[in-house]
Amino acid sequence: MKYSSEINKRKTFAIIAHPDAGKTTLTEKFLLFGGAIQTAGAVKSNKIKKHTTSDFMEIERQRGISVATSVMTFEYRDVLVNLLDTPGHKDFAEDTYRTLTAVDSVVLVIDCVKGVEEQTEKLMEVCRMRDTPVIIFVNKMDRDGKNPFDLLDELEEKLNIKVRPLSWPINGGTDFKGVYNLYNKSFVSFLPNKKATDDDIVPLADLSSSYVDEHFSAKDAAQLRNDVELIEGVYDPFDNKPYLEGKQAPVFFGSAVNNFGVKDLLDTFVEIAPVPRDREASTRPIAVGEDKFSGFIFKIHANLDPRHRDRIAFLRVCSGRFERNKFYHHVRLDKDVRFSNPYTFLAREKNVVDDAYPGDVVGLFDTGNFKIGDTLTEGESFYFTGIPSFSPELFKELVNKDPMKTKQLEKGIRQLTDEGVAQLFTQHGGNRKIIGCVGDLQFEVIQYRLLQEYGAACQFNTLPFYKACWITGNKQKIEEFTRFKQANIVEDKDGHLVYLAQSEWYLNTERTNNPEIEFHFTSEIH
Ligand code: G4P
Repeated sequence: MKYSSEINKRKTFAIIAHPDAGKTTLTEKFLLFGGAIQTAGAVKSNKIKKHTTSDFMEIERQRGISVATSVMTFEYRDVLVNLLDTPGHKDFAEDTYRTLTAVDSVVLVIDCVKGVEEQTEKLMEVCRMRDTPVIIFVNKMDRDGKNPFDLLDELEEKLNIKVRPLSWPINGGTDFKGVYNLYNKSFVSFLPNKKATDDDIVPLADLSSSYVDEHFSAKDAAQLRNDVELIEGVYDPFDNKPYLEGKQAPVFFGSAVNNFGVKDLLDTFVEIAPVPRDREASTRPIAVGEDKFSGFIFKIHANLDPRHRDRIAFLRVCSGRFERNKFYHHVRLDKDVRFSNPYTFLAREKNVVDDAYPGDVVGLFDTGNFKIGDTLTEGESFYFTGIPSFSPELFKELVNKDPMKTKQLEKGIRQLTDEGVAQLFTQHGGNRKIIGCVGDLQFEVIQYRLLQEYGAACQFNTLPFYKACWITGNKQKIEEFTRFKQANIVEDKDGHLVYLAQSEWYLNTERTNNPEIEFHFTSEIH
């Protein structure tokens, strides 16, 4: 392989969590270890604490200026780690789902008090679609949380994955003593607000050693010995293969805000997490080690400053070497494009790069040529598969309030939906435009941006739909179905037919009545 040394030193991942579990805090600790930031507090939370649109737009404007926060690259133990940021607000979950198509593995943060939450389950479903390897970090062990064995059961049950603890807590809450690392057989004691250093790590291969009796109460010592015996008996030993296949998730316990258990997690991450791998594409699998460059756009970030209307498209390099100023083939537009100022994000600063390798994310200035899922190659025509659109959860009809601005509205909505801000559906055989979103905040953002950036005023009328289902199957049956269900049939931006279901009951009824039609909750973007 021509670029094997570059490929094998890269690990590209995302930290995912239900809001408030500790993603931002853990990100910051990772960056501190990686030397990418010097002080705590440097990572701004991208959570929206006040839920007004103007607050949100203000945060977005700042983010637009410092797009560096979208990808954080740092070196740790000779590994080049690319950490891809995901939005903190649940209304923008779709952005997170798409970012997951660009990573090779994830770290999933769980709050030990709350356990598996709604968003945790959804995120795991997306990971499972691509068999993405997952490491779980059970956070906030300084709080009185659930019993760790119960938590492991909950993880297995709700996330549908086998788990394997690699560290084990001794008590929790105010009585939290520390963790025993089952992977490298050592003990680290917990001291709130004090960073554990290498000196605090006590090698402890044999739990019958007198160290345990000397340092723990008789109750804690017995509990630890019992727990570890139980773990070794009940859980399969950790194995790289099922982890890399996304079937087994190693679990760590710690407290991000106290920087506890984070180093164990990061050390193990750089050791076991996958390097960039081959990817499926429409015509053939693309080997990561191929000489020729290929990559795809997974995110588009608009600069909301009206004086600088450029956008940044985020390219994930999948094979070969990306070079600055070289012409590449934009498959969808069938034209050649080149980039004179591609960015990477080393140490949280934007830097113009001359080249990039598989696993890297490059920011490309875009004047409206890209949409999510676009592929760049050295000439060959294919597109990467597995970059889905997900069914929105809220549907509203877009109503033009100013007929003089119809063109601006059409252009605006096309560009915003290219960016992935929301999904646009058009009535089948008609002109009604329906916008699908995950959360209400998205509608507010669209309305605000259409007015601010395109001068187009619009209004939204709520529609009583609950899911969008892409329909495929027997052609004749689909024609009949679309005729009967005209009021519920729309087309997505690529002209695919979509059935909008009013409720789960309706959907199940249609499924039963139309066995030759398949109803899908996701659609390939192409
Ligand atoms: P998120 O990005 O996943 O939404 O979570 P974030 O890191 O912002 O953490 C959510 C809250 O949980 C924060 O408190 C954070 O300080 C706290 N937290 C993170 N890790 C731990 C931990 O190990 N133990 C405890 N007890 N708390 C933890 P906040 O009050 O919402 O914000 P802040 O004002 O403290 O920043």
